[in-house]
Amino acid sequence: MALLEVRNLTVSFDTPDGTVHAVNGLSFDLDPGETLGLVGESGSGKTQTALAIMGLLAQNGRVSGSVVFRGQELLGMSPGELSRVRGSKISMIFQDPDSSLNPYLSIGDQLIEVLTHHRALRRREARARAIEMLGRVRLSDPEQRMRQYPHELSGGMCQRVMIAMALLCQPDLLIADEPTTALDVTVQSQINSLMGELSEKSSTAILLITHDLGVVAGLAHRVLVMYAGQEMEMAPVDDLFADPRHPYTEGLLNSVPRLDQVRSGILNAIPGNPPSLLELPTGCPFAGRCLYAWEQCRQLPEFEKIDEDRFKRCHLDALPTKRESA
Ligand SMILES: Nc1ncnc2c1ncn2[C@@H]1O[C@H](COP(=O)(O)OP(=O)(O)O)[C@@H](O)[C@H]1O
Ligand SMILES: [Mg+2]
Repeated sequence: MALLEVRNLTVSFDTPDGTVHAVNGLSFDLDPGETLGLVGESGSGKTQTALAIMGLLAQNGRVSGSVVFRGQELLGMSPGELSRVRGSKISMIFQDPDSSLNPYLSIGDQLIEVLTHHRALRRREARARAIEMLGRVRLSDPEQRMRQYPHELSGGMCQRVMIAMALLCQPDLLIADEPTTALDVTVQSQINSLMGELSEKSSTAILLITHDLGVVAGLAHRVLVMYAGQEMEMAPVDDLFADPRHPYTEGLLNSVPRLDQVRSGILNAIPGNPPSLLELPTGCPFAGRCLYAWEQCRQLPEFEKIDEDRFKRCHLDALPTKRESA
């Protein structure tokens, strides 16, 4: 059984302008120990997917579908039950580490609080565990860090503290939403390799949310490409980079500067804009920007299995660029 089974997840927001359809029938599984990359341009519904899983949507949000975690349906759980699951079995790290840490508490007090609250450890044990974890995320001089406050640390250090905090309870699932986007490039790659290492050493599954395919290339086992709140393509990471099957994935790969040499694309943002989430097209949401759109794209394609472990939502049998070069 998968660790996390998301089925037909739908998130919408009531606003004065109408209903914003942020996530539109998303389904995916995540296995224990697996890292799944959730990618897509800004506004494609990645963060709202994460928040819906965690039961943390804004007041004006509505959610439907199903989120089963370790056999338990999370949608519709009482806030009390949900916060127990969240705190001990699911952890989340956000883009902005400064705003996630409490500015008035020392790093040590915050880490210790997590353990005394969720693991019922005594303070002394909790302290030892916290110091050990700060060492594991490679913060120098952990004992001194324990006494410091968030403003005394750099952004990269705060994000390490967040990772330490997220891992303290040995969660089964870590949801990391753009964990390195706010950091400078060298710190980004340090944090990324740290996450890769931690996922290898523990059996924590990671839902890695990012707009950056380069990050996914190094860390994810599988990738789910989202657009306008829907799945466009899902594939094992190497297959996706070597042989994208959806025009949107191809566009993303061509537009992202990447460190790896999987494909030497020219830097080219995909022209045009995503459709309004207030009024989604009835057909393929990407058709308006797709190089290969044709008559049939006025109908929404199914998200279909096209190969072992590969899925796509597109009427084309193969990408035309591939056919030409083949
Ligand atoms: N509380 C809200 N009210 C109305 N619209 C919202 C709210 N929260 C998010 N949205 C909209 O939902 C869409 C998806 O947002 P999000 O999941 O944050 O995108 P991503 O993380 O992929 O950049 C965006 O258009 C965003 O403006
Ligand atoms: Mg986001």
